[in-house]
Parts: sequence; structure tokens; C-alpha cells
Amino acid sequence: MTAHIGSATSRVDGRAKVTGAAKYAAEFTAPDLAFGVVVNSTIPKGRIISIDTSRALAVDGVIDVLTHANRVRMADKDDDYRDEVAPEDGSPYRPLYDDRVHFNFQPVALVVAEDEDTARFAATLVEVAYQAESFATDLHARREQAFKVDKPVKPRGDATKALAGAAVRHDADYGVPIEYHNPMELYASTVLWREGGKLVVYDKTQGVQNVQRYVCSVFQLKDDDVQVMSPFVGGAFGSGLRPQYQVVLAAMAALKLKRAVRVVLSRAQMYGLCYRPATIERLALGASEDGALAALTHEAIAMTSQHEAFSRNDIGWGDVLYTSDNSRATHRLARLDVPTPGDMRAPGAASGVYGLECAMDELAVALKMDPLELRLRCYSDRDQDKNLPFSSKRLRECYQQGAEAFGWSERNPEPRSMRDGRELVGWGMASGAWEALQMPFATRIVMTANGHVEVASATSDIGTGTYTIMAQVAADMLGVPLDSITVKLGDSTLPKTPVEGGSWTAASISHAIVNAAADIRAELLKIAQGMPESALEGLGTDEVTLADGAIVAIADRSRSVPMADVMRHGGMDRIEKERGSEFEDDDEHAHNTHSAIFAEVKVDEELGVIRVTRIVNAVAAGRILNTKTAASQIMGGVVWGIGMALHEEAMIDHRFGRIMNANIAEYHVPVNADVHDIQVIFVEEEDRIINKLGIKGVGEIGIVGVPAAIANAVYHATGRRVRDLPITLDKLV
Ligand code: MOS
Repeated sequence: MTAHIGSATSRVDGRAKVTGAAKYAAEFTAPDLAFGVVVNSTIPKGRIISIDTSRALAVDGVIDVLTHANRVRMADKDDDYRDEVAPEDGSPYRPLYDDRVHFNFQPVALVVAEDEDTARFAATLVEVAYQAESFATDLHARREQAFKVDKPVKPRGDATKALAGAAVRHDADYGVPIEYHNPMELYASTVLWREGGKLVVYDKTQGVQNVQRYVCSVFQLKDDDVQVMSPFVGGAFGSGLRPQYQVVLAAMAALKLKRAVRVVLSRAQMYGLCYRPATIERLALGASEDGALAALTHEAIAMTSQHEAFSRNDIGWGDVLYTSDNSRATHRLARLDVPTPGDMRAPGAASGVYGLECAMDELAVALKMDPLELRLRCYSDRDQDKNLPFSSKRLRECYQQGAEAFGWSERNPEPRSMRDGRELVGWGMASGAWEALQMPFATRIVMTANGHVEVASATSDIGTGTYTIMAQVAADMLGVPLDSITVKLGDSTLPKTPVEGGSWTAASISHAIVNAAADIRAELLKIAQGMPESALEGLGTDEVTLADGAIVAIADRSRSVPMADVMRHGGMDRIEKERGSEFEDDDEHAHNTHSAIFAEVKVDEELGVIRVTRIVNAVAAGRILNTKTAASQIMGGVVWGIGMALHEEAMIDHRFGRIMNANIAEYHVPVNADVHDIQVIFVEEEDRIINKLGIKGVGEIGIVGVPAAIANAVYHATGRRVRDLPITLDKLV
């Protein structure tokens, strides 16, 4: 029955993507399309005194220059600028709202022209005069002024006392710099204007309905005045959870000029959007001689903007992974004159687990204990903070299978003891964890008598493979071949879903499909049982299944009726059902995915050049819907983990409060030459508690723990402990 679920199915949208048939936000067009180019502030804080647009307007082909002084009416309330993933605290940023400058690279004008080159040239002619104010952009300089944010993590026991009394202690700061998403697709919106002021918006986003609500509330439009579509997304990684400012500017220009407008941000301008905040992860661990954790304290200090307080869960992961009677975790934020940070793949965990898992490695060194052995001694079968068992946690098996695949038992514990020619060899490991979340998602299935099925939902496919898993689940639940299924998504008029994020989409959309398919099965059965001498007489809906285009008795496969016959008998050419995911609350268990990462690095002893030659990432994430797309998610996370460990860092010149390397030439990301052998293991994990299909999601777990495993391997290779990421060669030589 489950021919497609669990298989290594290639992407159903793969051909469209590689042939260029898949259209992205900046590729939609209209006969009256105009082009908007953003002018950005060159100071981080202050007031706009004047904007001289005369030279720009004098250029042939320039239609208008929009600024705060001549913009169309926009909402005045903070609530109208929020969306479901906004930070609770503060006042969200409003593009072109007034003369205030809140951060460098802030948009201050939009030049609209008949063609893109003209707009781009004219944008250089806009002259902005500022009254600059003093500012701060350095987290480390503002560390002492950081304020505490409320987090649900409760203190346990007396961590200070336990730490002081511990036989072995380790206490250190671990630094994560500002990192940017750098998706391949630039942020873009193409807004078509329709008679009567209705807008059709093609936007790069992780949530079309989110953007639809946002555009409606910012411009005070009626719900059916705005349709937002995003059929394909060229990577977003969290940067598209909140609507980005280009959609506001494009919509504003379309409303003002009553014609279609496209705004595409440049790569540099994307450094004025959200980012992973720089953090200082302070870990203090205490243990007895035998490696039992006596105390675990974690203090995260992160940057945020002046106008909002953004923070994620950096600090709760020790309680998911390890047992300790004494624990304390705090999260502080320092306000800086920067754009508000945002979610970036495994937000909170990527940074917090980096600190935690490096600290565990340093504790193992202090204990003279194998780092894997230390993890096993501290292993927790309960979420320590929630004091609940897990719906499933096969992390032990991750350690075991990962270690075996890697050959961990061959490791010589002594740093600098392993060598390959002129390179030092280091082996390091770390644990990972993420939340297994699920959300209310709706879907509509239409099955026609000719055997075609359409599955539709407003969710996104941000490159994760959502089109494919939706088709797989529908194929199995409806008993039709994969190529009889059309998946429609990324359209705000389709059944309701939240943004695609948090690794929750796979579980959520799958269960909506299961429920809608069950309704179709029930209806077909009812009609089938009304047919003369029905082969399905007397069977309940749970006693039949849909397979090979027929309704089939589960206990006796010879009892079946073709679905086409049933629909013909019922006089129907289509059946349509819409249902939600309908999860039951479970507050008796903690829900997480887990992983164990093993890394090999080779370090050139004279030059300090680091190569990550092997990574094994063993992941326990419940039922895997598609072993191919899921492995690609983990692999992508591992590659990003390599970037986080060795390459990525946005550098601000604090004299100017401006990022110096706002491009992908100087902001380094891993390239093919940096990526060697990556092995992904999915540890079998049957979770009968979390949801009917036992799905947990894999979008984010792949990066968690990877930077720590690499940093620990670098220590093992060189005997040098670099705690501030990225570990560049200048820090080693
Ligand atoms: Mo993810 S950082 O929730 O897109």
C-alpha cells in the first residue's frame, strides 16, 4: 500500500526547474511592466533632511521616484506590519514610512522607470541629505547593556553551587558572527495592477497568505483585492518567513502608478534584510570524575534591533540531550542600530548547540574521556526542562550507527596524533536536536472520473521537496500513479496554511492529505455499496483501501471495484474534499528530532588550511517520506554547517555601522571544492505517538551540531581551540 511514501522519488518539479519552465517571482511579466530600483541609506542612524530626486526624474524613461514624502497612504499601527513570525516586542520596520533611518542599507527611495537599466542608473542620481546620529553596531561592545528576555526554560536545582562543587569544570564563551542566508534567488516581487485597484502579486516568500494579509493591512485593502503567488522559491532558509520590504515597495508603486511594477533587490541589498544574529554562547559545565553532569548553565547574548526584540531558543537544547540535576539558562539581547535579525535554518539551535557541543568536547578533554562516551553517560530519556518523556528518541542509535560508519573506534584521543602526510588529521563529534513541530494545514483534493487528481494547498515549496512529498502521499492514499497527480501550491487563494518553516510542513501537509483522502474513500465506498451486488457489501471505511485505481477490501484483495465505475455509477465526474491536518494536542511528551555528527578534518600544519574531508550525519527524525529529498535536506544542512564552521561571517565596520562584505565574493560560503564526503544515515525511528504517520520533519536538523563537530575535529587535529566562528586559518597559525 505504501509504494511511494518512504521511497527515493525524484522531484516531481525537477524537470520544470532544470528546463527553466518553473517561474520565479522576477520572471512573471505584464505588457505595462515598470521596474523599481531601491535607493538605500548610507548611514545607520539618523533622519532624512531632504531627498533631491530632480536629477533622477530628468532621466529619459524614469516614471517616478517614491519616498516617504510622496508615498501612498500606509497603515499607522504596528499590528498592520506584523505577521505570524514577527517578534512580539517592539515596532516592526515600515519601509518609506517616515524620515527616520534605523539601519544602514535601509530603503529610502524607489526609482521607477520603463526599464531596469534606466531605473538602476537613475537610482544613483538620487541625493539624500541626512542628519546623522550616534549609533552602535558591535554586540561585544554592548554586551554589558544586554537585557534579559523571558524564556520558558526554568532553572533546576542550584547550578551555581553544583558548579562550584564539581570535580571537573569547564567555562567558556563561544562566538557566532552575523550570518546571512544568501539564497540563490534574489528577493523580488512582480505586482500586477488590475482595474479597480486589485493586485496580483508574485513574490519570493515562504508564505503567500502571510504576504497577502500583510499587503492588505499595510495598504488597507480588502481581502479579495490581493492575491499572492509564489509557485517556486529559489531558497529562502527562513529569510522569507516575514514579508520583505521589496513587496511593500512594489505594491506601493503599482498602487500609485496604476500599472505593473517589479522590484528586484541586488545581492548587496539583501544584506539589509534579516540575518542570523551574532551571539555569544556562554557555557559552564560541571561534572563528576565519571562524567555525570552536575551542572549545566547556558547564557546566550544576542544582538537585536532598536525597534524589535528578536530571539530564538539558543539555550534549551542541553535539557533535550543530557541529564543534569542542576541547570540554569538565560537569554539576553543587546539593542543595536541594525535591521532586526530573523530566522535562519535551525534558528537558535544552530548557534546554541554549537556552544553546547563544543563545551561538551572541552569537558570530555578535561575528564580525559572519549567525547562520545561522555554523551552516553549524560544521555537523557526525558526532556529535563519539561520533565516529559520523548514521543521517540533514538539518539543512542544515531551515536552508534554514526560512530560505526565513521570508524570512530579507531580514533587516537591525543590531539595532533593523527596525520596524513603534511596534514594533521582530526576527528570530532557532536550531537544535534531540533523540534518536531506540526501545524494546522488545509488541503483540497479533486479527483476526476478519468483518474486524475489535483492536490492544492497554499503552502510553499522553498526547495525542500514539498511538491514531491504531497504527490507521494496523495498517490498512496488515493491508489493512483504519481504521474496522475498535479500538485498546486504557493497561491494565497488555495486552502489555508501557515508559512513553510520550522520543519513542520512535511508532517502537517501529509496529514491534511490523509484526511481529505479518507473523505474521498468514504464517499466512494458509500456509492460502491449502493451498486447492485457490490463486492464491498458490509465493509466499513477502515476495512477498505484505495489501490491501483480501485476500492479494495483490505482483508480480501479480490473484493474490489474500480473507482471509475463507482464514479460513473454515482453520476459524478469529480469528487472534491477539503480537510485540515487536525492534530491532537499531546502535552504528555516532548517532540524532537535528534542527530549525531562525526567529522574528519585535515589541516595543513604550515598554512593552517582546513579541509573537511568526511562528515557522517546520523539522524533520527521519525518516518522519512522521501529518502532522496530528505537526504538532500540533511546534506544541504551539513554543507551550511561547514560554512558556519569555516567560512561565513558578515563583517561590520563599526566606524560606519556598515557591512563591508555585502556580496558573495567576500562573504564566503562553501563551494564544491570545500565539500567532500558527506554520508547521511536515517536511523529507523517508529514514532506511534507524534502523529498517525510518525513524521517529524528534516528541514533544519541537518545543520545542528555540524559546526561543533568540525570545531572539535580542528581541536583534535591541531590542539588549538578556536571558539569564535568561523575558524579561519589566521586563527590557527
Ligand atoms: Mo525556517 S529558519 O523556519 O525557514
